[in-house]
This record gives sequence, C-alpha cells and structure tokens, in this order.
Amino acid sequence: MIICKSAAEIEKLRRSGQLVRELLEEVSGRVKPGCSTLELETYVEKRVRQLGVKPAFKGYRGYPRCLCASVNEEIVHGIPSGRVLKEGDIVSLDLGVIVDGFYGDSALTVPVGAISPSLQRLLRVTEESLQMGIEQVRLGRRLGDISAAIQRHAEQAGYSVVREFVGHGIGRDLHEEPQVPNFGKAGHGPVLKEGMVLAIEPMINTGGPGVRVLEDRWTAVTADGGYSSHFEHMVAVTRNGPDVLTDWSPPKGGSL
Ligand code: MF3
Ligand code: CO
Repeated sequence: MIICKSAAEIEKLRRSGQLVRELLEEVSGRVKPGCSTLELETYVEKRVRQLGVKPAFKGYRGYPRCLCASVNEEIVHGIPSGRVLKEGDIVSLDLGVIVDGFYGDSALTVPVGAISPSLQRLLRVTEESLQMGIEQVRLGRRLGDISAAIQRHAEQAGYSVVREFVGHGIGRDLHEEPQVPNFGKAGHGPVLKEGMVLAIEPMINTGGPGVRVLEDRWTAVTADGGYSSHFEHMVAVTRNGPDVLTDWSPPKGGSL
C-alpha cells in the first residue's frame, strides 16, 4: 500500500530532508585529497549527535555507520573506512536521519579535487537524470514515467542504469512502497497521487549495469570496474507539481 501523507506530515519530512541535505553540504565541503572516508563518517556522526537527531542507516539491517561513502567503482553502501581519497576520485555520499519520527534520505556524488572531464560529465548526466525524473512527479502521471525519463537520459548519454538498487517511498519508514526503479516503461505502474513522497535515486555507470557485492556484504561495486555516480532527492506529489523536500539553500544568518 502506498501511503499518502498529509500536508503536516510533508512538512515533517521536509524538516528531515533539509537537515540531511544541510549535513551533506557540510560533509561535501570536507572532501579533500588525503582525507579518509572514516573522517567523513566521524564528522557526520558528531553533527548528527549535536543536532539531537537519529542516524537512519546505523543499525539498519546491521549497517555499521551513519554515512555511506562509495568511491569510484563503488555504486552504493560503501562503508566508511581508512580508504584515503585522492585527487581525481569521485565519492558518493548517502545519508539518512530521523527527525521527530520522520525519515530524511539524500545522496550526491562529489569530485575529490580536480576530476577528468569524462567524470564531470558522468556526474552532470546523473544529476540531470534525477532532475528529469523529478519533472515527472505530477498528479496523474505514472511511476513508470519517472523511471523511463531517468533511463532515457542516462542511456542516451551512453551510460547504463543499475537495476539491483532502486528508489523508494519514504515517511515513517526509510523504505516504503512503492519501489522507484531507474528503468522502466512510460505509462506503466501506479498513478501518482497527492501526498505520495518518493526518494528518487539514480545510480548510473560508465560501463555495464552489472553489480557485485564485496565480502563486507554491503559495498556494491560495478561488475566491470567502471565508475558509478549516485544522486538522491525526496519529492512529494502535489497539485502544483514536484515538491523537492531535500532542497537546500545556504543558511541565512545562522545554522540549524
Ligand atoms: N539511500 C539508500 C537507500 O535508500 C541508503 C541505505 S543505506 C543502509 O537504500 F545502510 F541503510 F542500508
Ligand atoms: Co534512499
């Protein structure tokens, strides 16, 4: 069953969504050559504690950290470790929090120092694919319209779309119905209704779509060693079109 949220519930989701985005901006600013992914985790954990909110991923199905940090060929669920970032790498940062019982979940991929033009293009196309998906979040459209828009943009650019991991509904649970695949057919799937809140999260590879999970049982990498990029926003269906709950603007005189 797809849960439709009230206006008040959407405002609660916006609070957690904006907070998660603010933390992602902060931690992105600390991504530098020579910094380890564990240092990013330590920073996020400290901030989450300071703000008095709960990390959503730590303990979820046994996941050991607050943050997912996935480097280069890692797609998602990279466990922060001593791995040191180097100039020219890309790192996908995925974070979830719970504020007042409501989940926030967002991700982005950032360059480490200067990156190659081809990696810049991968990041740009992945973010554009997410935007194309968001554009479809309108009353009366179908879930497949979102999936197809994302897939078309990524594949037209010569990339491939990961099948094993998908977006999801979000609310009082991290993963609610429906699943939101990043591939599919326009005009298919459930009709979008007012109050649905979707976490849309394309994972786009430079090579093939295949996935392998490492020995740690979490880190998902590309089967062929190609690079992968990941962006995620939470979007509510409203009569006025898509409402991005994880939209972030710099704090106007004062922090959270
Ligand atoms: N954004 C991802 C998701 O929605 C992150 C989950 S990490 C986990 O599945 F540790 F919580 F699994
Ligand atoms: Co998610």
